[in-house]
Amino acid sequence: MTGDRDKTTHFGFQTVGEEEKAGMVHGVFSNVASNYDVMNDAMSMGIHRVWKDAMMDWLAPRNGQRLLDVAGGTGDISFRFLRRASGARATVLDMTESMLIEGQKRAEAESFADRLDWIVGDAMALPFEANSFDVYTISFGIRNVTRIADALAEAFRVLKPGGRLMVLEFSQLPNAGLQKLYDLYSFNVIPRMGQAIAGDRDSYQYLVESIRKFPDQEIFAGMIREAGFAQVKYRNLSMGIAALHSGWKI
Ligand SMILES: C[S@@+](CC[C@H](N)C(=O)[O-])C[C@H]1O[C@@H](n2cnc3c(N)ncnc32)[C@H](O)[C@@H]1O
Repeated sequence: MTGDRDKTTHFGFQTVGEEEKAGMVHGVFSNVASNYDVMNDAMSMGIHRVWKDAMMDWLAPRNGQRLLDVAGGTGDISFRFLRRASGARATVLDMTESMLIEGQKRAEAESFADRLDWIVGDAMALPFEANSFDVYTISFGIRNVTRIADALAEAFRVLKPGGRLMVLEFSQLPNAGLQKLYDLYSFNVIPRMGQAIAGDRDSYQYLVESIRKFPDQEIFAGMIREAGFAQVKYRNLSMGIAALHSGWKI
């Protein structure tokens, strides 16, 4: 056997075939969809909201811009973007329909309905023409994607010249002591919280493992440059528990 069927990747700490991973990730997010927003607040003690606001501060949405929010889930990023730019439009794309359905139930979905689309799709094969969007965001999504380089190439393709990419993702802490403390919290507390609140330990075990497998800030910045983006910069959030990466299609 040759080609993609022989290639492996990781699903948390497990090694799996590339062709298996998307289905497993889809399973995780289908399981967590109905508790996703509550769990985000519980696990991060509300801090994910501060990180998402920091993303908007750096992005500075402007009227008339067209946003593509990939792996957009229940809409947190698109809602924030539209709130800050009254004449902007947003498309939330996600491969897990149940996440989008949860987003569509939120009050903001109703109030932004005329400026917002929800689309089921894959970050690695976007159903849009080249040069279509001013801004591409992906928040806590890219570490779940099977081939990150393919998703970044697609981001570059669909952005207009002058368009901007911004990624919010868990990242690595700068020193071993802090990392150890953080690991203690994440590996011990988060799967238990998943069990207690959502009745689902395994999905949250995957979540913490996938965080540890994601490349550090410098390596990920290099991958963004490889995809063709210019002026690539990053900012740590909460000392590097998460990071924002920005790049431009010039
Ligand atoms: C942790 S949630 C993030 C949701 C939202 N962006 C946020 O910040 O709260 C990750 C999302 O990525 C989606 N996802 C994972 N792989 C994807 C892919 N290849 N294409 C599109 N969406 C994907 C999942 O379905 C899930 O909804």
